[in-house]
Formats: sequence, structure tokens, C-alpha cells
Amino acid sequence: MEKIVSLCKRRGFIFQSSEIYGGLNGLWDYGPLGVELKRNLKNYWWQVTVHERDDVVGMDGSILTHPAVLKASGHVEGFSDPMIDCRTCKAHLRADQLVEKKGIKQCPNCGGKDLTAPRQFNLMFETQVGAAADESSVAYLRPETAQAIFVQFKNILEVSRKKLPFGIAQIGKAFRNEINPRNFTFRSREFEQMELEYFCRPEQGMQLLEYWKEERLKFYENIGIPRGKLHVLTVPDEERAFYSKGTYDIEYEFPFGRQELEGVAYRTDYDLSQHQKASGKSLEYFDEETKQRFVPHVVEPSAGVDRTVLALICEAYSEDQAPDEKGKMETRIVLRFHPRMAPVKCGVFPLLKNNPQLVAKAKEIVDLLRPHMVVFYDESGAIGRRYRRQDEIGTPFGITVDFETLGEKDPALRDTVTLRDRDSMKQQRVAIQDLPAILRERLY
Ligand code: GAP
Repeated sequence: MEKIVSLCKRRGFIFQSSEIYGGLNGLWDYGPLGVELKRNLKNYWWQVTVHERDDVVGMDGSILTHPAVLKASGHVEGFSDPMIDCRTCKAHLRADQLVEKKGIKQCPNCGGKDLTAPRQFNLMFETQVGAAADESSVAYLRPETAQAIFVQFKNILEVSRKKLPFGIAQIGKAFRNEINPRNFTFRSREFEQMELEYFCRPEQGMQLLEYWKEERLKFYENIGIPRGKLHVLTVPDEERAFYSKGTYDIEYEFPFGRQELEGVAYRTDYDLSQHQKASGKSLEYFDEETKQRFVPHVVEPSAGVDRTVLALICEAYSEDQAPDEKGKMETRIVLRFHPRMAPVKCGVFPLLKNNPQLVAKAKEIVDLLRPHMVVFYDESGAIGRRYRRQDEIGTPFGITVDFETLGEKDPALRDTVTLRDRDSMKQQRVAIQDLPAILRERLY
């Protein structure tokens, strides 16, 4: 993890938030490459979850949430972790973080045994809306995106005229005042979720739970996380929310252990029923065929953007041996991103920066490719160094403009370039005009 965290900072994937002021724990900023990676992930999720399906529509709800919503959902009462303080080193700990030696609970930091009794700590961030700072102005930063979907269920049903089963998808920020943010971005206080609420008839729930678990596993494979590194945990009855009839956690083998990437839960009709009861507004569905009126059930695949980005980086990180300028073998850091996820798709390099013809040709190629993909132009340093810099950020392809491109050695090679593959390091000579088609095919 140390190498990964350091690469993330060095190359501009992820920085500590407010770093120049000493940072704020559990908060992170994504740099130029991190934001591209994150967007590629979110766009691909949206593409396969919303655009490629007839039965899912999207929405984008507000972050500040009416307290009544979170009272009805159970968050105001119950969205808390048991917390314990160590009186010796003053650490604030989640109860499940204590270590037990010879049957005695101890602080994991200092080994202290002088601990407070557990007390419930609500993880929601509270704020005030408007000028009056009293109880009537309280609102919360949403702890999950899902509630906005439930609350807008009726509006969206009416405008989309969908029939069951159908889903509503949303990507957005969520906030939790985690007691111990840790493992880099894995447990943060501000993060993004990609959530789908897939509404169905009660009798379809269990089958759709299986269906969505499989769909989600396929998704991870399609972004470059191999099936062998993913694990499906069937959440046992005693750990499942009381209203859920079945929950799977999809876990990934992070360097710090096997941890949850996503939860796929069959939440029954709990959420819609709670909001119907609390608001007094009907959230029922009317089935034209059977003339039945009922509150739909829901299956929810809920994934974390930041956790998936972290998994993508961890999975991509590798070191191998490659020859330097003088042919001597050196360690090469490569991020082997799936081309679909790579923040930069293609590097373009004129062999020499002081040759105007080479530079002009390389810039022509940049203009040719830019409408199709993120391209990075680099003319500084030896060509091997430039390849390494792109390998380190996971750019799958490199294009070099050399003297053969100018037709100096063989007129038949005029307007051809070398196309280098990041993983095999093999180079292939291709015509400039074929580049957009060749790259598009290999990238997506
Ligand atoms: N609507 C259901 C829900 O929010 P959850 O298991 O609490 O369920 C879903 O969260 C996903 O959101 C998790 O699987 C994880 O990927 C992400 N997530 C939750 N808490 C997080 C945190 N503190 N930091 C980063 N990601 C988090």
C-alpha cells in the first residue's frame, strides 16, 4: 500500500484534502489523473446500468436531506456505530476494532485496558439550512444516495411510465462521520456511491438478487478486476438488516485484506413502506393487468466509487524489468489498467523535440485522436523515459513519430508511426490514418 499511496500522490491520482494545512482526516482530493479514472468508472457504470438497458432510468438527488426522510428510513435513530475511548492514549475506537488478549479487551494502539463503556455514535453529518439556527432548520448530508430514489419513486414512476420490474440509478456523494477512517480512501468520510434501486413484485425479489449479483460480478470483470480476486460473502442472518431477505457483499482482495466493494441487498418493501407511512402519501404501484395495488419490493446493488477506484489502482499496480536507454535492465512500474479505465489512452511522442517536422507530425496526430480519446503529448527527454512515464500512469498505447514517418528512409513508410503496447512493450508500424479505428477497437 505504501508504494501505491506514494505513486498516487507523485503522479496526481489522489492527494490528501487540505494538505497544505495539515490535511483533514478521511477526506481526499482527486488530481488530474484520478479524476479521469473516476469518470471512466462512473461513465461505464452509467452506460451499462442506464443507457444500455430499457428498464432503468437515472436521477440526481440533492445531498442536503430533509430530516423526515432520514427519520423514516431509520438513519436518525439507528445509523450509528458503537464507540469506545481509550483513557490511556485518548484514541476513539469502533468497538469492533478492540483487540482481545487472554479474554481481555485492549486498545489496538497502546494496548491500554482502561476503556470507556461503548456508546452509540451517529455517523450522519448534521447542518442547518437557512438563517434560523434552531431545531426546525436541521438537515443532514445524506449518508447514502438511495433515500432520494425512494422518496422520488412516485414522481419517477409517473414520468417514466415504466412497468415493474424497473430501476432507478444514481451516482453521487455520500457522507459518514466514520470513527476511524483508514486504509487510504477505503473508509472515507466523504465518498461517492453508484446505486441502483431495482423495483419488483415481491415474488421476483430473491431471483433478482441472484441476477444482480451476477451482473455486478461481470461488471467488475469488464473493468479489469479478475473474478479470482472477487469474493461473494453471503451476509449471515444475524448480521443482515432486519428488513432484508438476502444480502451479498462483493469483496476484493485489497493489499490490506479482503474487504467490501459493494453490497447487493434485497430490501423487500421496507423503504417505500416506511416513507409511505411517514409521509402519508401513497407509494403504491398499480398493476394494470391484475388490477392489484401494492408497495413494490426492491433489490439494491450499491457500489462505492472510491473503493472501486482504489481496487482498480491496486489491481493495476505492477513492477517488472525493462531495458533502459543503454539496454541495462531496470525496474519498471506499470499500472496495467484495463484500457477502458485508463485515464490517458494514448501518448504521442516526436522522436526529437528540436525537429520541426517531427513535432508538426506528432501534433497532427494529437489533433486527429483528441476527438476520440484522452491523448497526452510529450516531447521532453529520451524516448525510453517518456514510455516509462506513461507506463507508470497506465497509458495503454504510445505512438512515436520518427524519421520513417517523414519517409526519409523508405518512401513506403511515409505517414506511418510505431504503436507501442504498454503491457507487451511490442511495437507495430501502422498508418496514421488507421490510428483512430485501431485504437478505438482496442480501447473499448
Ligand atoms: N444504500 C446501501 C448502502 O449505502 P453500504 O454497504 O453502507 O450500503 C454501500 O454502502 C457501498 O458504499 C459500500 O459497499 C462501499 O463501497 C461504499 N462505502 C460505504 N461507506 C464508505 C466509506 N466510509 N468510504 C468509502 N466508501 C464507502
